[in-house]
Order: sequence, then C-alpha cells, then structure tokens
Amino acid sequence: MSAHQVEGGNRLNDWWRFEQIPGAIADGDRSGDACRHYELFDQDFALAEADGHNMHRLSIEWSRLEPERDRWNAAEVEHYHQVLASLKRHRITPLVTLHHFTNPCWIADRGGWENPETIERYCEYVRFCAREFGGEVDWWCTVNEPEVYAFRGMSEAVWPPRKRDDGAALCVIGNLLEAHGRAYRVLHEEDRADADGDGFSARVGFAKHRPQLVAANPWSPLDALRAAIENQMFNVAVESAQVTGMIDLSIPGAPPVRREVPELKDAFDWYGLNYYTRWMVHALGREAHTARVGAPRNDLHWEIWAEGLAEAAHAAARAGKPILITEHGIADARDQWRPKFISDSLAALARVIQSGADVIGYLHWSLLDNFEWSDGYRGRFGLYAVDFNDATKPRRRRESAEVFARIVRANAVEPAPAS
Ligand code: FCB
Repeated sequence: MSAHQVEGGNRLNDWWRFEQIPGAIADGDRSGDACRHYELFDQDFALAEADGHNMHRLSIEWSRLEPERDRWNAAEVEHYHQVLASLKRHRITPLVTLHHFTNPCWIADRGGWENPETIERYCEYVRFCAREFGGEVDWWCTVNEPEVYAFRGMSEAVWPPRKRDDGAALCVIGNLLEAHGRAYRVLHEEDRADADGDGFSARVGFAKHRPQLVAANPWSPLDALRAAIENQMFNVAVESAQVTGMIDLSIPGAPPVRREVPELKDAFDWYGLNYYTRWMVHALGREAHTARVGAPRNDLHWEIWAEGLAEAAHAAARAGKPILITEHGIADARDQWRPKFISDSLAALARVIQSGADVIGYLHWSLLDNFEWSDGYRGRFGLYAVDFNDATKPRRRRESAEVFARIVRANAVEPAPAS
C-alpha cells in the first residue's frame, strides 16, 4: 500500500492540492479520508497476519514528517513508530517506500523533481528516516516507479504537476534515478541496525513498473518502431541505469538526458518489480496504448493476462539480482477475476522460479481497496473491500483473500529469528 492511497487526511502534499481542481480525478473523487488506515492500521495488519502475510509494503509520507523544510513533526514520527511496532506485533516484516508519488507542497513549489535541488532535500529526508527507523526497518524501497511518475505528471498531464513536456519527463526520471543511487548509499551508511536478526541491516531497491510494450499491429513497421522505442526508454534504460550507473534517456523530439552517476552503479540489492499488464502500442490513432482486442479486461480496462507476471519476472532476472515482486494485482470490484488471476499468475511464477529465477518475495497489490490516483475510487484492487462512505466499517473479505491465504500457507517458510 502507499500512504496517500490509504491513510486519509494527507493535506500537505501536492496530490491533495491537485485533487481540489475540478475534473482532476474521475467521478470528482478526492482522497479525503481514504481507508482511514491512519487510525485503523492495527486492525488492518491483523487481517494480513490472519491470512499468513509475512511482509507488508507501506510508504512513509514525507509531507507528514517534514511539512516545512527542516521542520520535523515529532508526532508524525511517533505515528510511524507505532505503525512499525504494530507490524512487528503481527509478525509482519515491513518494506518501507520512501517516495510513492507524493511530494510535500514546499518541494512541489520549488519545482518538484525538475529542480535538481530536490535530490538533496530528498536525501536529507532519507537520512532522517534511516536514522530514525533503521532499528525497525531493514527493507527499503527508495522510489516508486520513476518512469510512471514522470510520464503521468510531465508528459500526459494527468497527475500533478500536469505538464505536457517530454523533456521535463526525462529530466525527472533522471533526477529520480540519481536520487535512488544516492539514497541507496545513504541507507547503507546510516542503517546499521539489523531489525530482524537475519544478518542484513539494509536491503535497498526501487520499484520498477514493467509492462510489456507490444506492437498493436505486428505487420506495421511504425507500431513496431514505436513499441521498440518505448520499451527501450521505459523499461531497458531505467532498469539498466541501476546496473551501470549510466543515465541515458531519450525519446524523439525531446532533449536527451545523459550522465553518469557513480552512486547509481550497482545500487540495488533486489529488483523491485511492479507488474500489472501488457500494452498494445499504436504509432497512429487517438490512443497510443490499448488492451489487446478481444482480451478480457479489468475494471480499468487493462488486459487480464496472468502469464504476464512470469514473463516480466523472466525479463527482470537479466539484471542479475534477486527479484522482489513489489506490486501485482487487478482492479476487480466484484472479485470475479481475481481468485483465478492470483492462482494462475502464481503458478506461472512458480515455473519461472523452477527454471532458476531468484524470486524472493511476492507482494499483492493490495491488502485494501484504496484511492487509485486519477482514477479515484473506481479501481478496486483490495483483497479486502472498503466501504468509502464509512471507512470505519469493517473491511469485507473477498474470496481472493482466502485464495491468496491458502497459497501463502502452503508455501510458508519459517520466519527469521527475532532480534
Ligand atoms: C501502480 C502504483 C500503485 C497503484 C497501482 C495500481 O502503478 O505504484 O500506487 O496505483 O499501480
């Protein structure tokens, strides 16, 4: 899960501000109280524990900790200590994301991620978190989906800051990759405490959104060219930057971004894989990306293709590091597809593991229905349904929660001894 999508009341970031613009979010939704997870976290984690989950991905909301530059909010720091203590009580290992799409307003107002100074500010925040929470956290995800964040906000104008400027998108991806590399070093430097006694004090990566991008018409050289260019930029360039330390981003019509960042070289202990679907790429026509014609689709019209996860894991394995599946799921309010989608996807993933891929974990997106960014409350990804008219009502367990719990139990490994 991510803070802004579930906590409620995150008023100090650029997303909250964006949501107030009429028409910004589908159906006029706003994150508002979201799942009220800010108050209800302990009972939500009890659900996860009862279903056998042994890791939970959450994000720390930067704007809560540092609402103004260099002013740290002690009450919010204490809140996240409570959250982490609750996970520990429920015997669930935290994986903490430090940037999941939202920025404190003061960062956005200084040019956000187009301003290279943001890298410095972010690294200070990361240092603060490593010192403050390092004793409770070993697994860190520096940034979530730099490529999605940049294109949605800078090129497609559907997320803040609502720009249409491919050059700005490349600049932002470059800055986020640099920030990842530097945060990787900061976390290893500052977090020396092994929270769970498994011999590691910090295991750091970032989450890469990795769809397959396929020519819509296999006979069209233009579709093939566009798909190849997009795949090179969106997937290959981003994932190889963390291996080589070279940022090399280009798309036709925009100034390229090229530089070497020494801290970025080999800056990942695991490959964070977020996977949902594949996209058919059209060079011409109104929509550049569509689901495959005739394919089953989820509530957000994304193709439902269970084998895709295994294929993405197979591709990610080429980076040579253990793979942690940091997101995978389906928007399906009626839970008509999800149970089979989970079991088919995990069966396919098992085959990739048998063929030698080092997949060390799988985190389903998501434990709860939540605020799905510009799609508002249309995309219901939860194993548990949330009543957004009154989010204090008990979560409703979907059948897929049971299916997932059974798979989890059948594959349970002994947790590492507690420190
Ligand atoms: C990913 C985001 C996550 C959620 C899922 C459905 O791109 O990281 O926050 O919105 O998609």
